[in-house]
Amino acid sequence: MNFAGEITIAASRDAVFKALSNAPFFASCVEGVRDLTGRTDAVQQAFIDCGAFQCGYCTPGFVLMAKALLVQHPDLDDEQIRDYPSGNLCRCAAYPEIVNAVKMAARKCKAGATG
Ligand code: FES
Repeated sequence: MNFAGEITIAASRDAVFKALSNAPFFASCVEGVRDLTGRTDAVQQAFIDCGAFQCGYCTPGFVLMAKALLVQHPDLDDEQIRDYPSGNLCRCAAYPEIVNAVKMAARKCKAGATG
């Protein structure tokens, strides 16, 4: 049997420790980023608006990393945007658009949009 693709789950270090100890925790896959009504999250919409993907293989990882980054650092700077997702690679080199999408999502989140 062959398996292809990837699964990316955003979880804080605290959530991982709680999961290992059977304590309640929260984690999300990219489908869980949407709200309960199915509305697109501000981060997802920013990736769409900025065209921050080509093949889309890396996109779930970048969306989740951006979401986690904005939760942990709502006042992030350009260096944090470039450094944070260094463990996720984009074969298509959509990095400039990804950085623009995270900046746009940060502005939307500060303005009060969902995200
Ligand atoms: S959009 Fe193709 S790997 Fe990132």
